[in-house]
Amino acid sequence: MTRVAIIGAGPSGLAALRAFESARLKGAEIPELVCYERQGNWGGLWNYTWRTGTDEFGEPVHGSMYRYLWSNGPKECLEFADYTFEEHFGRAIPSYPPREVLHDYIAGRVERSGVRKYMRFNTSVRWVEFDKATGKFTVATKDLVADTTASESFDYVINATGHFSTPNVPAFEGLNKFPGRVMHSHDFRDAVEFAGKDLLIIGGSYSAEDIGIQCYKYGAKSVTFSYRTKPMGFNWPENFTERPLLTKVVGKTAHFKDGSTKDVDAIVLCTGFLHHYPYLPDELRLKSNNRLFPLGLYKGIFWQDCPQFMYLGAQDQYYTFNMFDAQAWYARDVILGRIALPDFATREADLLRWRAQEEEVADAFEAIDYQTEYTRDLLQATDYPPLDVDRVAELFKEWEHHKVEGILTYRDRAYPSVITGTMSPAHHTKWIEALDDSLVTFLNTGKTA
Ligand SMILES: Cc1cc2nc3c(=O)[nH]c(=O)nc-3n(C[C@H](O)[C@H](O)[C@H](O)COP(=O)(O)OP(=O)(O)OC[C@H]3O[C@@H](n4cnc5c(N)ncnc54)[C@H](O)[C@@H]3O)c2cc1C
Ligand SMILES: NC(=O)c1ccc[n+]([C@@H]2O[C@H](COP(=O)([O-])OP(=O)(O)OC[C@H]3O[C@@H](n4cnc5c(N)ncnc54)[C@H](OP(=O)(O)O)[C@@H]3O)[C@@H](O)[C@H]2O)c1
Repeated sequence: MTRVAIIGAGPSGLAALRAFESARLKGAEIPELVCYERQGNWGGLWNYTWRTGTDEFGEPVHGSMYRYLWSNGPKECLEFADYTFEEHFGRAIPSYPPREVLHDYIAGRVERSGVRKYMRFNTSVRWVEFDKATGKFTVATKDLVADTTASESFDYVINATGHFSTPNVPAFEGLNKFPGRVMHSHDFRDAVEFAGKDLLIIGGSYSAEDIGIQCYKYGAKSVTFSYRTKPMGFNWPENFTERPLLTKVVGKTAHFKDGSTKDVDAIVLCTGFLHHYPYLPDELRLKSNNRLFPLGLYKGIFWQDCPQFMYLGAQDQYYTFNMFDAQAWYARDVILGRIALPDFATREADLLRWRAQEEEVADAFEAIDYQTEYTRDLLQATDYPPLDVDRVAELFKEWEHHKVEGILTYRDRAYPSVITGTMSPAHHTKWIEALDDSLVTFLNTGKTA
């Protein structure tokens, strides 16, 4: 029987499980599936852990999410077309849920489809090898609880281990003598730690922006952002400034490229993440920065030199859960023989065309259009339920405008579901005042029945 290994049970790996299971429920014969997950639970980054560094087994901690993290995009843009928020929660919920609520949604879909039987939790993939002669992969793993190693043979491998976990940590002069806390956003857990502090944040993207406003919400005294390329330019609260890149730190004084200085108590490096696959040999390993179309992947999925090896979720992400679904359904259909892959040269021409178009993307709006076309291209080839990506793109663009209108208020907005058309209710508490991010509090309408 054909065997498929799925590495990772975050939203991408779970999309693969769901894709196969939905085909099985429609009567298809599906391959034998094994999903290896290093953590003890599924949900990937959406599992919160207080741990940083290494875990109880000495494995690198995967989690990059922090307490009080809320979705930074409307949930209507990521909604699964085959499992709506209304189906999961039994009613419409507000547009920007906190982490725990989104974890519940992701886990609910797979729990209900009964795919737990394919899971091998607490199992870390150590090495993957492809034998050209037999056309098979050997996947070497470690059962972290039993403390035993094993290896198994597979016909296909789906790599779904994410790329926002291994921190990119540049060095700056003077950091080794800085008297306060220095950390990467990967290790940031609780904004309360920075209450009353002057904080320096390096980076100009989502982590910088969100950790900055998060610390403001929980009482930081001031936030100074330091950017390499360009300022974020939002309408920041008082006591926020944006400065060009840090050149050095002397004592607790940060020096910036424009000659200005600022005394700070703590530094958070929001400098992004590395594609890091230490269990893969060069012949299978994607080497890329964070971008919309990494090279070497036909359809953004199939490893060009060995298309039985597939990556899900390897892109920079506007679209997330439903794009992972689009990829997973496509990968599934190739494995099931429903879609035939073209020859090497045709695949190469196609991926170079996508890459050339990506190089032309000039701003966030064009990036949204680009990823919309990419997702549409995948969707039209499979039986994934209808998803109006043009409507999703419109919502993403509204979201961009709403962030510009108010970086502290954009999460108070509400949007209609693209799938059901139902308008989401406003949340009972404004985001800036919602200090308790628990599922129970979020789902409480604030009204007595
Ligand atoms: C701080 C932060 C906030 C984010 N917020 C949002 C948001 O608000 N909205 C949104 O849509 N997206 C958000 N994202 C984007 C996020 O990338 C996706 O939502 C999603 O989690 C990606 O899913 P994934 O399955 O590809 O990867 P991951 O979620 O990273 O899951 C990968 C899984 O692979 C496992 N794994 C890794 N290595 C191994 C191994 N060797 N063996 C076995 N298992 C392994 C990991 O344990 C993990 O469970 C955020 C990302 C970060 C870092
Ligand atoms: N739900 C939420 O609220 C939330 C919160 C945080 C993150 N996220 C998600 O997490 C993912 C990752 O976001 P991210 O912001 O961590 O990574 P990112 O989008 O890849 O951005 C990395 C940032 O680091 C900067 N950088 C890299 N190397 C640097 C260096 N040597 N010196 C100075 N700056 C450097 C980059 O600057 P340049 O611009 O110059 O390249 C860029 O601004 C995204 O998908 C995001 O949506 C979500």
